[in-house]
Amino acid sequence: MKEKVEGIINDLKKDIESVKTPQDIVDIKAKYIGKTGSINELMKNMKDLSPEERKEVGQIVNVAKNEATEIIGKKEEDINNQILNEKLNKESIDITLPATSIPTGAPNILEKVVEDFEEVFMSMGYDVYDGPEVEEDRFNFELLNIPKGHPARDAQDTFYIKDDEILLRSQTSPVQARVMLELGGKEPVRMICPGKTYRRDDDDATHSHQFMQIEGLLVDHDISLSDLKGTFDVIAKKLFGSDTETRFRPSYYQFTEPSVEMDISCFNCKGKGCNICKNTGWITIGGAGMVHPNVLNMCGYDASKWNGFAFGFGAERCAMLKYNINDIRTFYNTDLRESSMFDRREEE
Ligand code: DAH
Repeated sequence: MKEKVEGIINDLKKDIESVKTPQDIVDIKAKYIGKTGSINELMKNMKDLSPEERKEVGQIVNVAKNEATEIIGKKEEDINNQILNEKLNKESIDITLPATSIPTGAPNILEKVVEDFEEVFMSMGYDVYDGPEVEEDRFNFELLNIPKGHPARDAQDTFYIKDDEILLRSQTSPVQARVMLELGGKEPVRMICPGKTYRRDDDDATHSHQFMQIEGLLVDHDISLSDLKGTFDVIAKKLFGSDTETRFRPSYYQFTEPSVEMDISCFNCKGKGCNICKNTGWITIGGAGMVHPNVLNMCGYDASKWNGFAFGFGAERCAMLKYNINDIRTFYNTDLRESSMFDRREEE
């Protein structure tokens, strides 16, 4: 038996010399220490041996197996090291090459304008609310004093999801009604709600079927139009520069009475007249007014005790003015050069 084992180990030592590849390792393992390898073959006739002989043969075979495993293991390590070294030599890295630049994103410019609004309003104690873009007719129109069949609906034709009742909101004003109903007519309201709105407009440089508004509502006691004017003044100066002047022009909205258009003095020509303000010296950036008593009452606030103001700014309009963008579609295409361009302008 001992001679047999010695023979096998000698054969292995000879064989191992010609082992060069990982596949050769697999093969030599199978030949010597595999299940049907020559070492295991030695145990084939074990069942015919006496218990003592079996023990002795078992020990010899085990020692042989360990020795063979060690020989093959060493060779395997050598081969792996050799492969790794070859790879490292081949794949040497030239650290003097210029690095490939990784393009970084920039905040969407509309998002930035909305955040600027939020920051100023939050500093004045306003809460920021969210509302659904798929809205009920009741919130989008009826609770805002625009009953079915009212001609004011024509200017806000939108996309209908289900019959005449579920639609894509045409303004962020429905969130006013939602918040008032949520607060139940018991506590003052001071909220803004930026968000997407939709209308059935044909897209061109100044119209988009999807656009953003920044809605606001304040309900309390003894509020007057001058509170609205003061609030607008703070916003305008913060967002468009401290020398910005503001003015109201009479207007008409169904949910406010009286209603106004909110104008800022042209930041480009400082009121002298240029092509941005169409030579008027003023630029309109939103609508506003004192909340109509019907709206307060329908939304659970007793109009004999409460009053307030509401407003809506056009986010794209503000962004276009502030960043000198002349096509609203710029905000909705996917050209990353746009946002990186504005990013740079901010840094200057
Ligand atoms: N929702 C109006 C629009 O889409 C904008 C607006 C005007 C909102 C006056 C208001 C408001 O809250 O008081 O044209």
